[in-house]
This record gives sequence, C-alpha cells and structure tokens, in this order.
Amino acid sequence: MTKRFHLGWFLGFSPDEWNEPFANGGSPWNGDFYVEMAKSLERACFDFMMVEDTLMVSEAFGHSMEVYLKHALMAPKHDPAPLAALMTAATRHMGVVTTMSTMAYPPFMLARLCSTLDHISNGRFGWNIVTTGENASAQNFGMEALPSREVRYDMADEYVDLVCKLFETWEPDAVVKNRETGYYADHTKVHTIDFEGKYYKCRGPLNTVRSPQGRPAFVQAGGSPRGKDFAAKHADAIVAVGNGIEGMKRYRDDIRARAEKFGRNPDDIKVFFCITPTLGETEAEARERHARMINSDRFIEQSLAFIAGVTDIDFSKFSLDDPLPHLTTNGEQGSLDKFAQWGSGKTLRQLVIEASGGLVSSIELIGTPDQVATRMGEVMEEVGGDGFLITSPSLRMNRRYIVEVTDGLVPALQRKGLVRTEYTTQTLRETMKEF
Ligand SMILES: Cc1cc2nc3c(=O)[nH]c(=O)nc-3n(C[C@H](O)[C@H](O)[C@H](O)COP(=O)(O)O)c2cc1C
Repeated sequence: MTKRFHLGWFLGFSPDEWNEPFANGGSPWNGDFYVEMAKSLERACFDFMMVEDTLMVSEAFGHSMEVYLKHALMAPKHDPAPLAALMTAATRHMGVVTTMSTMAYPPFMLARLCSTLDHISNGRFGWNIVTTGENASAQNFGMEALPSREVRYDMADEYVDLVCKLFETWEPDAVVKNRETGYYADHTKVHTIDFEGKYYKCRGPLNTVRSPQGRPAFVQAGGSPRGKDFAAKHADAIVAVGNGIEGMKRYRDDIRARAEKFGRNPDDIKVFFCITPTLGETEAEARERHARMINSDRFIEQSLAFIAGVTDIDFSKFSLDDPLPHLTTNGEQGSLDKFAQWGSGKTLRQLVIEASGGLVSSIELIGTPDQVATRMGEVMEEVGGDGFLITSPSLRMNRRYIVEVTDGLVPALQRKGLVRTEYTTQTLRETMKEF
C-alpha cells in the first residue's frame, strides 16, 4: 500500500486578492471569506489550516511603509486567534493552527488563550511557536531592537517549559461537578507551579479547565541550528521551506536525528514542506500562467519587499541587474540563504524569478492536477515524508485557487491513494499521528 502524506494550508488573516481578475475585493475582516475556505479545506480532508502572524507594519524596504501598504503586504493583518474560533465553530474535524509570538504574549495569557481555543475547537487547536524576527515588531513591545537569535531561543525554551507546566496545573479529573457534595472542581487537584526562571516568573495555576488535548498541538519552523533544536525538542509538526528534493530530505533527516538526540520518537514529528502549485487544464496553460506571474513588475517588487520584511535588510538599495553582496541577518537567515544562492553570480532579478514560488516554495509544481499529484507523490517518496503545506507566493487567496486545489488537485491525490479521504480521529494531534 502507498504511504500516505498529510496536507495543511498556510495563510494569513490578510486581504484576499483584491485587484486580480478573480479577486474577492480585499475585505475579509468579518472572517466570512476564511470561514468559507475552512469548510472547503475540511471537505478536502486537510489536517489543518495554519494562520501566520507578525506584529508590525514594516518599513524595511526603502525605509517606508509605502510598498507594504500599497501591496497590502504583511499589513494589514488581523489577529488570527479570534479567526481560529470562528473557523473551528464552522468545522468539525480539521485542525486550526495560529501563530503567537513568545515575545509578545505573557506566558500565562498565551496558555490561557490556547486552552480556551482548544476547548472551543474540541481539541483541534495548534500553536505555531515563533520568537519574532523583526526589529519593527520588537519596537511595538517596548524594546529598542530584537534580542539576538540565541537569546530569543533561550527565552523561548524557558517560555515553553513554563506554559507546559501551566497546561498541567489541572489534573485530568479535577472537575467533578458533584451535585451531592456541591463541588464543581476539586481544589486538591489544581496546583500552583511557582515557576522562577531566568526570564519568566509565574505562580499558576491556570484559571482554565484542562483542555481536550492537554496542551495544543505545537507547530514550529526552525531554520537555524538553534531553531531546529528547539523544534525537534518541542514540536508535533514542523513547517519548512525546503530547497528542492535534496534540501527537503536533508532538512527532515536532520530534524529526525535531533529528535532522537532529545529522546523523542522521530515519527511523532511531522514535517510539512511549503509548496505553491500552479494548476491548469493543460500543462501549457499552467506554464503560461506561471510565466505571466513571475515576470510581472508587481511580483518582483512584492518579492523584494517580502524578503526585506523578514530580514530587516533594505533590498531597495540593490540594483536588480547586479549580483547581491553577501548578507547576514538577525531575522530569517534561512530564507535569505535560500533566496540568495550565494556564489552563483546571478543578478537580483534572476534570483527573484528563480524563487518563483515566492519565498515559500520547496519545489516547482506546474501542470494539470494529475501531473502535479504524480510529482508530489514522487517527491514524498524520495524525501520520506511527511506532508505538504499548500500556500500561494504572496500568501494571498482567491476562491478560484482554493477550488483548483480542493476540487482538482486533492481528488487527483486521493485517486492515487496518496492522501486521506476521511477523518478517523478527533483531535489535531491524533489526526497528524494517524499515519
Ligand atoms: C512556513 C513558515 C511559516 C512561518 N510563519 C511565521 C509567522 O507566522 N510569524 C513569524 O514571526 N515567523 C514565522 N516563520 C519564521 C520561523 O518562525 C523562523 O523564525 C524562521 O523559519 C527562521 O528560523 P530560525 O528562527 O531558526 O532562524 C515561519 C517560517 C516558515 C518556514
């Protein structure tokens, strides 16, 4: 029997496409557009939707908010946590993962919010753990600049340790609801944690009832060695942008080795690789659509603004027709390295075109649903697992693209026995562990 793989979808609570031929208008703020999308993805048996988040309006490109607000790129972006409540209320099986930064939330508030959302979703909630990588975000939280990556992950390790202790403060049978004795909860089964670390201090207990999954599913996206260790130690799922089949395999093997080093079963961690398939009724049609997109001025400007936003490097100062100088960042170094192809001598324009799935594509997938499904199967076979995270180059959605995936690509994958055709378990963690 063919080994199946998992599917997730990566998006932001940002404007849907607003000025393309199949646009929906760019005002998804009451949540309806994304709630409808959640129902479509559940019909296609996705494991989860993951909503990204950042906490700033960037000025990294050209020291101005202009390009970001012009293209609605990384901003405006609304809070994903309330959207998660709406999406899970409209679905029954699919998981919803939202991003929350260890820099931004006091640990107690984060644990309480996660616990609440895990209840509202009946055990289908996941937390994408990020440490935040932009100075502009840090400056919204009273800091002059972002702490170094090392310090951010030291803080995040302690943070996750603390919230895990908070999730355990209510024993599974603490709620007794005993009409005879008049006790709702048994106080002997609810405990303080009296946590005193280097960075955080918290007494506990949580004032929320233990949640269906105990703790939400943990998702992470470590790219640096320190980030990969963090992910291998804590995560149930890891999302990544691989660099071709070789890069994907190397990344997954590396994560699995690190997990073993921490005494974990590597099969308990599912690695999802980002892809941005371009689909058409014929291969020629798909190729033409793809070429039109990557050669447009808009695509080039948006790609440069995006990489500037996640690296805090001003890409407006480099000529499009010259090679890039060597660069480093305290932000997303992995994204920068993949984009820049150091030593290749390619011009900046070539680099943008070659990163043609935006910065979120692990392999090129262009063709009919059947061709793309076959290729996805071959790639997974070589990589060894575990799933794909579908998105679009700008993370922006239109209904046509969603339907192309849910009613074209997924049925083709299902016909080949490559993905699930039904949900058999209740919680997100169980769904991800089913195979
Ligand atoms: C698919 C994917 C999604 C991510 N989503 C977010 C996000 O929503 N918010 C954020 O601040 N960082 C996000 N990141 C950045 C990661 O959390 C991480 O910082 C990055 O991959 C670099 O790894 P490092 O922290 O080990 O350097 C994402 C990364 C990837 C690959």
